Amino acid sequence: MSQTKPILIGHRGARGLAPENTLLALDAGIAAGCPWLEFDVQLHPSGQLFLLHDLTLERTTSGRGLASACDWHRLHALDAGQGQHVPTLDEALDLIDQRARVNIELKTWDGTAAAVAECLRTRLAEGCSPKQFIVSSFHLPELYEFKQLLPEVPVAVLLCGVPLDWAACTSELQAVALNLSAEFVDARLLADARARGLKVNVYTVNDAAEYARLAALGVDGVFTDVPDRLAAL
Ligand code: G3P
Ligand code: MG
Repeated sequence: MSQTKPILIGHRGARGLAPENTLLALDAGIAAGCPWLEFDVQLHPSGQLFLLHDLTLERTTSGRGLASACDWHRLHALDAGQGQHVPTLDEALDLIDQRARVNIELKTWDGTAAAVAECLRTRLAEGCSPKQFIVSSFHLPELYEFKQLLPEVPVAVLLCGVPLDWAACTSELQAVALNLSAEFVDARLLADARARGLKVNVYTVNDAAEYARLAALGVDGVFTDVPDRLAAL
């Protein structure tokens, strides 16, 4: 199985090892040996980019209500678990410091693509390789906008379902990968992705048997909360 072993992408950092989308979770993913880390990014009305999965604060922080309605300085200082704060995109990239490659998932729209493109353009100007990054989203028009703004950075289409035209939506986006929900790993979708030369990554895989099943199908990577568990297989 060694040749087909899917790579491990730390999910929200490595949310099984530390509070999700925090600097601690990113460090935990790196310590567990993830070559890639995924995290969720939102744009605050103040112009700041920050790491958070939900649009609301309750589940993962000490705050309440919509993140977009929270004063930026307050939001940035909220307890995201184990004394961690809500990090900015720049803080996350500084912490990772090219020790792992980075999948930035655009969670919001209306300016998120432009703000992330600006941030990454600065990183590229500082010497980072575009291959250090991949930008993904379920919001395909936002992802398309990102691709227009910074075409050198690869993009991946996120799907939670099986489109009528299979993986065709990746073409106009010039995507390099399809990131699929584990519930929808249809062999025909996989075959169409392969025929288009795409990598296929599956989220979220924490179970050894499921990992083995996906490896047998030839999946390229899995997003996992527990990279330590899957690395030990
Ligand atoms: O990027 C893969 C995965 O993170 C997508 O789903 O809801 O965990 O952001 P979600
Ligand atoms: Mg995500």
